Amino acid sequence: MKTLRVKTAAPAIAAVMILTACGESGGSEAASEASSEAASAQLPNGMTIKEQIEARQGQLEKVGDAFKAISDQLKAGSPDIAVIQEAAAAVPEATQGMADWFPEGSGPESGIDTDALPSIWENMPDFQEKVGNMQEAAAALNTAAQGGDIAAIGEAFKTTGGTCKACHDDYRLDD
Ligand code: HEC
Repeated sequence: MKTLRVKTAAPAIAAVMILTACGESGGSEAASEASSEAASAQLPNGMTIKEQIEARQGQLEKVGDAFKAISDQLKAGSPDIAVIQEAAAAVPEATQGMADWFPEGSGPESGIDTDALPSIWENMPDFQEKVGNMQEAAAALNTAAQGGDIAAIGEAFKTTGGTCKACHDDYRLDD
């Protein structure tokens, strides 16, 4: 499945590189016209690029909120395990389809406000590996949370946080 995606991505990458080159040689007006066209272009999943970017940002915001909820509880004197359990369950759910959230053309070249760096599309296999690492860690965090052992939850939370950071360091624009 993964191999297939990587293989089929190669011609698309080449096509985008050609498009980018054309946009640049056509001057900035042509380039921005090309971006707004790109933003409203329909993806195979039926979403426009703009909708795809906004959808992934919405999902990641949920993940960020869930992470903060867990962190707040772990710092509290007596953590509310029910809050942790609900938040930990939300992370795998919110990130389920993440491998498909970054189609070709949904980077900054779309003209849509995004913190996704172009390096994602230059290193897609590595990016996808980082998606997988996070999903694996988040599933283990959820299992630990449902088990209720605070020490185990703390460890799994740290591990998962490391997988978020590993991707953000390389592929997300710094705030
Ligand atoms: C494989 C890479 C990757 C992983 C893993 C990852 N992120 Fe991100 N994250 C991104 C990228 C890229 C963006 C920028 C998306 C955009 O703006 O289009 C982002 C954006 C965000 C945002 C901002 C959303 C918004 O626009 O409001 C939050 C919050 C966030 N991530 C939290 C997390 C947390 C918490 C984890 C770990 C559980 C995580 N991310 C794991 C790549 C990743």
